[in-house]
Amino acid sequence: MDYKLGLIGYPIQHSLSPWIHEQFLQSANLTGSYSKFEIAPDQSFAAKMEMLKESQIDGFNITVPYKETIIPYLDEIDDAAKKMGAVNTVVNRNGLWIGYNTDGSGYVRALESKFPALFTAGPKRILIIGAGGAARGIYYALITNGNTYVDIANRTVASAMDIASLKKTDTITQILTLSEAEEVLADYDLIIQTTSVGMRPLTTEKVLSLHNLKQGCIVSDIVYQPLETAFLTEAKTLGGQIHHGHTMLLYQAQYAFEIWTNKRVSLANMDEQLQHILEGR
Ligand code: ATR
Repeated sequence: MDYKLGLIGYPIQHSLSPWIHEQFLQSANLTGSYSKFEIAPDQSFAAKMEMLKESQIDGFNITVPYKETIIPYLDEIDDAAKKMGAVNTVVNRNGLWIGYNTDGSGYVRALESKFPALFTAGPKRILIIGAGGAARGIYYALITNGNTYVDIANRTVASAMDIASLKKTDTITQILTLSEAEEVLADYDLIIQTTSVGMRPLTTEKVLSLHNLKQGCIVSDIVYQPLETAFLTEAKTLGGQIHHGHTMLLYQAQYAFEIWTNKRVSLANMDEQLQHILEGR
């Protein structure tokens, strides 16, 4: 079969998804294509969806600003995507469009691949910094993975409380301000930075100071431009183990590709190649 895959969003000219999925098709020994379907704000979203339905596309990704807009066009939506209120992957199963969200679970997979013992060697105390869409996906993926202690720190406490309403019966979640989090940082084994603070061009900014970091704590940042944020550099200096955010692009895509083709492709040396691409930007 010739897989017809693609991406909708705006703007998407510089998206890395075509590069990633074309590599996946090759390494899975499948034929097909992954095309960009850019939908500008002045274009009709409904008309584009009709065109995609008629083309019998096998699957596609959805990026900003359409992760919510797509929902009324779906026939089914999986639990995680429903809880997120956002869909980043659609699969066509016998003419029915089914929506998934691989953002949070892809991120957790990326973390686990770098730190394989992270979620198996006893319960971990986790802090998520930020309470936007990315934090929501990661929080849900972490608690679904069986993590009990997942706290959230955010500038706006109300948004953190909203995310915490997803918690399961055995989840323990405290909500903190950013300055409260700074004070108790030594309590955590894993800290995940999900805000846009530190992203190019404001690369010297940090959402909070890590001076109270526990030695060996894993510190992850979803910002990947620059590849190593000031937040991660500080973590490294203070004895933390760092996790670069760009790997989530690969794992989210790996998960989406699996939904479309039932094949889990190896990411082999794609991490290095992706770093080169991002460094050249
Ligand atoms: P995404 O969907 O990509 O996660 P978002 O919904 O815009 O992005 O969320 C951005 C997050 O970054 C929020 O947690 C935001 O904090 P608020 O909820 O208080 O707005 C956080 N954020 C953005 N700029 C910030 C800054 N300068 N200092 C602290 N937090 C910031």
